[in-house]
Order: sequence, then C-alpha cells, then structure tokens
Amino acid sequence: MEIIDGNKIAKEIKQEILSETQKIIEKKGKAPHLAAILVGHDGGSESYVNFKIKDCEEVGFESSLVRFEDDVTEKELISAIEKLNDDKNVDGFIIQLPLPKHIDEQKIIEAISPDKDVDGFHPENVGKMTIGLPSFISATPLGITLLLERCNINTSGKHCVIIGRSNIVGRPLSILMSQKKMNSTVTVLHSGSENLKEICRSADILVAAIGKPDFVTKDMVKEGAVVIDVGTTRVPSDKTKSGFKLTGDVDYENVAPKCSYITPVPGGVGPMTRLALLLNTLEAAKK
Ligand code: GUN
Repeated sequence: MEIIDGNKIAKEIKQEILSETQKIIEKKGKAPHLAAILVGHDGGSESYVNFKIKDCEEVGFESSLVRFEDDVTEKELISAIEKLNDDKNVDGFIIQLPLPKHIDEQKIIEAISPDKDVDGFHPENVGKMTIGLPSFISATPLGITLLLERCNINTSGKHCVIIGRSNIVGRPLSILMSQKKMNSTVTVLHSGSENLKEICRSADILVAAIGKPDFVTKDMVKEGAVVIDVGTTRVPSDKTKSGFKLTGDVDYENVAPKCSYITPVPGGVGPMTRLALLLNTLEAAKK
C-alpha cells in the first residue's frame, strides 16, 4: 500500500510553476495575478482563501482579496465581479463558495468572464471541458487527474467509481475520467443509487466526494483498489490548536491496508486542488 503524498507532488509542480512565472515576468513585465472574493466569516472559507493567497506568494504570483460582509447584496457582488472582469491587472479570480442563502450562486458564477474563471465553474468552461475543448477545469477534478498521472496509476480501461455528483467535483471528474486521456469506465453514485456498496466493491479506482466523514468502509473496497478521498469535513477536536480537524469521507485506518494507493486527509487531494488553481491562473496569465 502506498500513501499518495499530495503535499510532495504539489511542491514539485510548484517549482515548475515558479520557473514559468519568471518567464511571464520577463515577457509581460508583471507576475500572474489571482484575485479572490470572500463573503462573510465562515472559518472554512477564510482558511481556504488564506491558503490560496499563501500559495500565490510561493510561486511568485500577485494576489488580492475583496471582502464583503454576509449581508452583501447580489447587485454589489455583481458590480465587484464586473470590476475584476475589466481589471487588466487581474488575470483570474474566484468567488469562494458557498455564498449566503439570499445570493443566487449560479447568477454570480455566470457574471464571471469565462476568460478569468480560473475555478472553471462558468457554464461556458464546463461545456468546453465536457466536449474536450481547451478550458479552465475546476480545481479538484484537475488536481485528482494530475495526482493519478504523477503517481503513474494506470487508469485506462479501469472501472472508476465516483461517489457524489456535485458540479464542483463528482460530475466534472466523471467527464474527465471518461475522456480518451484517462480512458476509464466511469460510474457515478449518488444519494439515489441502489446497490451502492456492491458497485463500490467493483471499483479499481474509488473516489469519495460526498462530504460524509468515514462513509467508505472497508467492506466497500476491493483488495488492491486506488482510493481517492475528497472529503474535508471540519469536525471539532480538542487535539488541535484550531479546535477542529479535517475528516475525509473514507474510514482511512481500516480501508488503507486493502488499497494499492490511498490519499490521506489532510495532505492528499487538498494540496492538489490548490495547486490546480495556480495552474489555471498561470494559463490565464499566458493568454
Ligand atoms: N468552495 C469549496 N470548494 C471551492 C472551490 O474549489 N472554489 C471556490 N470558489 N469555492 C469553493
């Protein structure tokens, strides 16, 4: 069994990005610039955005943060998005999700210029990705495919079972895994699926992306399977300084001994998601 070290792989690719950054600075006279819009003070969202800013510093990118309180109106948010769409100094930007209930998330996503949508959430990017045209691909699915490639895991002809059909992870990943490049046979499982455990047991590559701690138990995993854990639920803990710990969707301790490869939480998919955002920003800056 091999534990996939997402931090190590992300660090290697960050070195590659750093040298690309130098080339862009030489050519354009400025570093790639990622901006983020953050609404409210949710602990998870705050820490994700802080990590993204720190990542930018590490690869020589510029970054900026636009903050709003929870009572921001849709109009104010759209006006901030339009400003970033027009800002020649900003190559790409993200709006950290989730947004407060009174905001129509889809309307906000569609206000982002597809050229700057480094999260790959705009329907134009989703559509292009689906038919295999160049586009921004959302960060977690892109990070997972990179992880599989860098670990030389053979995905061709293999049964990839994805638990979860979210627009951010499960659905786009299912499309990427079925395309020629990854060449897997893909099954997407969700809350309405029958025989879920049985189907999981037939997976060569099992991806858990449902946000339910310890959902995947050892009786659901085939001997020698590759298990990718996308879960990052914050559960209270008195063992950490922050007062919580990140918990994956996989019962790691009991599942790991059965796997050929497994990603830990934290330190598996998370760093690769952050890395993928940097790669998308680099692409945006090259255009
Ligand atoms: N919230 C959870 N994941 C993501 C992500 O990848 N991008 C944004 N913008 N918000 C998120």
